[in-house]
Amino acid sequence: MNRIFSGVQPTGNLHLGNYLGAIRNWVRLQRDFECIFCIVDMHAITVWQDPKELRAHTREVAAGMLAAGVDPQANIVFNQSQVPAHAELAWIFNCVARLGWLNRMTQFKEKAGKHRENASVGLYAYPNLMAADILAYKATHVPVGEDQKQHLELTRDVAQKFNNDFGVDFFPLVEPLIFGAATRVMSLRDGTKKMSKSDESDYSRINMTDDADTIALKVRKARTDPEPLPDTVEDLDKRPEASNLVGIYAALRDLDKVEALRQVAGRNFADFKKDLTDVAVSVLGPINDEMQRLLEDPGHVDAVLAEGARRARAIAEPIMRDVYDIVGFLQATER
Ligand code: TYM
Repeated sequence: MNRIFSGVQPTGNLHLGNYLGAIRNWVRLQRDFECIFCIVDMHAITVWQDPKELRAHTREVAAGMLAAGVDPQANIVFNQSQVPAHAELAWIFNCVARLGWLNRMTQFKEKAGKHRENASVGLYAYPNLMAADILAYKATHVPVGEDQKQHLELTRDVAQKFNNDFGVDFFPLVEPLIFGAATRVMSLRDGTKKMSKSDESDYSRINMTDDADTIALKVRKARTDPEPLPDTVEDLDKRPEASNLVGIYAALRDLDKVEALRQVAGRNFADFKKDLTDVAVSVLGPINDEMQRLLEDPGHVDAVLAEGARRARAIAEPIMRDVYDIVGFLQATER
């Protein structure tokens, strides 16, 4: 059986990278698979979060997912901290994963930066919690953007080592699902840096909450180069900013880069940016409107998350009972 799990951190607004790299793909997959989508608030606190803002961002991200078309009846949508299995399994994985594996994680190195000694232990163990998220449901497939690939390799290593250590064939080896024309959306200010919630400049990203004027302004200010757009992908990919903007255009129009270039080759940026703005506003505008509508009723959003958490617990609890039994934890029959 195929089961899909994926997650997003409530550390700020959702941005175009989250949408094109992940959430839009979730909406496509939910038709054909059993899907579990999680707002990973426990991952968020690996770096400091103001409690009030964390609560607000959790609701905002949930509203963004629903507004983008994630169906909470057909799928499970919840926030991580409402399901204890994530923390329970993460602890076991802390004892399975090796220090050497975590030392190789590039995302930890990037996030901890020069102040490694000051990073939280949670930030270091982050990938083990991510493995627990997925494997607490024995999920088989994980739709993500390219930046999560290394974490999913670690998830496979953890699953394999657990199975070997205990002589069981228990956890599946997950497959990443990375698809679409924008698996790595880059910053609008620097085509070599990933678009990210943590970038200091708001001009580096298009947020799902940006209105039409803000989107137009950000696209207009986006860094470019002086040449008109080329007609081959090979030439395009030598130009990071051009490649990023055409990639975004292609993804928003649901084209691949070759088809997109057929439409825009030879044009200058001033011209192309108008079309890019139009398509971005036409895709994101309705999502933004729906998101605002949902946020007017936070009680509804909370109820969706509570119901999702109830259903998630029902899947994870029997799996955790088996895990505890495999590990050798003595348990009363009723947990
Ligand atoms: P997060 O919150 O950084 O991002 C959520 C999803 O958006 C994708 N993404 C991007 N895709 C393309 N271009 C970008 N610039 C871009 N920025 C973000 C991410 O790849 C991701 O799919 N560790 C995860 C959250 C997580 C998770 C999980 C994911 C926790 N547990 C279990 C999958 C399965 C993260 O920080 O994503």
